[in-house]
Amino acid sequence: MTNVQDLQKALKMTASKPVSKQMGFLRISARKVQLKNGIFWQVEQFKNNQAFHQNIAEHDFLQWYQQNIQPNYKQVCFVGENWSVTYLYSNGKCKRLEQNNGLSKQNLSANRQKNYILQEGQNIPAFVDLGVFTKDFKIVQSKYDKFKQINRFIEIVDDAFKTYNKQSITILDFGCGKSYLTFFIYYYFAVVKGVQANIIGYDLKADVVEHCNQIAQKYGYTGLKFVVADVTKDKLEGTNIDMVVSLHACDVATDYALYYAISKGVKHIFSVPCCQHEINLSIQKGGELDCLLNYGIIKERVSALLTDSIRAMLLEDCGYSVDVLEFVDLAHSPKNLMLRCCKTKQPTAKNTPKIKQLMQQYHFEQRLFALLNK
Ligand SMILES: C[S@@+](CC[C@H](N)C(=O)[O-])C[C@H]1O[C@@H](n2cnc3c(N)ncnc32)[C@H](O)[C@@H]1O
Repeated sequence: MTNVQDLQKALKMTASKPVSKQMGFLRISARKVQLKNGIFWQVEQFKNNQAFHQNIAEHDFLQWYQQNIQPNYKQVCFVGENWSVTYLYSNGKCKRLEQNNGLSKQNLSANRQKNYILQEGQNIPAFVDLGVFTKDFKIVQSKYDKFKQINRFIEIVDDAFKTYNKQSITILDFGCGKSYLTFFIYYYFAVVKGVQANIIGYDLKADVVEHCNQIAQKYGYTGLKFVVADVTKDKLEGTNIDMVVSLHACDVATDYALYYAISKGVKHIFSVPCCQHEINLSIQKGGELDCLLNYGIIKERVSALLTDSIRAMLLEDCGYSVDVLEFVDLAHSPKNLMLRCCKTKQPTAKNTPKIKQLMQQYHFEQRLFALLNK
């Protein structure tokens, strides 16, 4: 019999080796978390390579455990703070093995320490498949910067979601690539928060999209899908979209993400631009700013800043309140400016004439401007 005190002290539980092959789930893992409505056990059950999730209130967990785990699995491991215990059941006998190792001190809050909504050591097998975590859920060294970026990104997204007062969310990710961010957004909303999440990632690369869809299916992430699309020209699906996100979507792909969000009246946009080539390729000397165009590197950086400044000003004209922030430290990405936008006001044409005049004077083109003024 399992000692009830072990169960009360534990922060994580894993049950494996089902007594019968007919058992529905090969492995069940659970961890205790603090959610808005109290402390819950987040249970993840694996069957046919798919994961199924449910949140069980702490006071119901003992009963659930006695019905679902105790009679059905030969090995159950509980892990608490600096402590772990394993139960081995065989031939009607039970062996209890206690060890002084386990989790280092942690609190249960889903928001935990700053910048660490996603924590190393969390049992998220999809992140192993994606190559962000090793098999024992350590961060893959080369993914550390991306890990920081997606943690910070989700904090910002979550701050916006807290203003919604609803239990569902639809988000499009433009230029999702290997989709660490897309997966994490889904995991955070669907699994950690128990929100009905409908997340779509768009990317040009068919093989990457297929791989991401396979991982989503493998773990039963039914509200997460990836679609091959050229966001500059393909028709994109999606209605009632709450947020558009883009993280390092190349060059003008960012402009199309912004334009799509503006044209659909999407409330929140979180966009971290990357490789802003367009203005750099077209800008020419024409006035007082010529001294910024003498040297290649300076011209490139000025062009990138001008691009994002124009994007922000156009978004303001389209009725968005825009913050331009350094979303992570420069050390974690040189492309660290985020446009954080919320639709709060009526459109105006305050900035557009000034931008048009700059474009004429310095002979450059800017895609978001062109899309909004076609
Ligand atoms: C630098 S990667 C960023 C990937 C991911 N968002 C991340 O932060 O790890 C840029 C991605 O944008 C995609 N991309 C570029 N232009 C695109 C377009 N026109 N339509 C769709 N995806 C595009 C690329 O295929 C690539 O996967």
